[in-house]
Amino acid sequence: MPRVRFLPSGRSFDLLPNGTLLRAILRAGLPLARSCRGVAVCAACRVRVVDGDDRLAPPGPAEVALAGREPLRKDERYACCARVVGDVTITTTYW
Ligand code: FES
Repeated sequence: MPRVRFLPSGRSFDLLPNGTLLRAILRAGLPLARSCRGVAVCAACRVRVVDGDDRLAPPGPAEVALAGREPLRKDERYACCARVVGDVTITTTYW
């Protein structure tokens, strides 16, 4: 099972393949800024991928459209959209 690790706490959560970062974050009991219920609208759920960006599925149409409207930095993904296929490490500015 892919493992999502959270910095700076070092906590982690094992996720079924193709689960979203949002799911891992919430199941791990961490807060995540969002106001759209995880449907690629609010653009508040951005996270920084510290390691393993190649172990996230490529952005799908919803994330591409959202990033077109609210651009991401090169190392960021929208947590509600990014699907985990292998071990990754992520953080936010407020953890
Ligand atoms: S939770 Fe709103 S865009 Fe991800």
